[in-house]
Amino acid sequence: MSFTFKYCSLIFLIINPLILTSGDDIFPKVEKQSTEIFLDRFTVYIADGNVPNLNVHCHSFDDDLGDKPLLPNQYFHFTFRQDFMYSTFFSCNFSSIAPDKQITKSVVFNVFDFDISIICRYPSKNCYWLAKDEGFYFSVDNKPFPNGWTMNHTWQW
Ligand SMILES: *[C@@H]1O[C@H](CO)[C@@H](O)[C@H](O)[C@H]1NC(C)=O
Ligand SMILES: *[C@@H]1O[C@H](CO)[C@@H](O)[C@H](O)[C@H]1NC(C)=O
Repeated sequence: MSFTFKYCSLIFLIINPLILTSGDDIFPKVEKQSTEIFLDRFTVYIADGNVPNLNVHCHSFDDDLGDKPLLPNQYFHFTFRQDFMYSTFFSCNFSSIAPDKQITKSVVFNVFDFDISIICRYPSKNCYWLAKDEGFYFSVDNKPFPNGWTMNHTWQW
């Protein structure tokens, strides 16, 4: 019994790498399972704290959220799951466009990445960004400004 068990285990160990290297053929369902190995669900909120004609354009590795024009005090949010490699990021281009269509100021930075996920994991997996004329504030709990908000980016120009 014990011998058979060891013998089987040995065979399993020997053939296991073969199974793995040709896994796609032997386990065609492997791809479906990958949706289950995505990790926690996060939500990023982006609010216009009085920047005139703010336009926000965010993208990740495989999603382009398009132009989001915001009026002062408007916000938008998006929800996603962090992938199991912790490589999920969202980068946003913030620009303030004057009525004559000239861009008056602009900046690009990550509103979500691995480092930020560690910060806004608690209390609620929500990450809040507030765009203001002097720069961009971040909060994990969206208390009334300025409680708990820190300025983490300034406009580039
Ligand atoms: C950000 O968006 C503005 C307006 O669409 C564009 O002119 C600018 O080139 C963009 N910046 C980057 C770094 O893509
Ligand atoms: C923003 O800056 C504060 C203070 O320096 C820091 O504690 C926090 O981790 C930063 N947040 C992000 C998202 O970079």
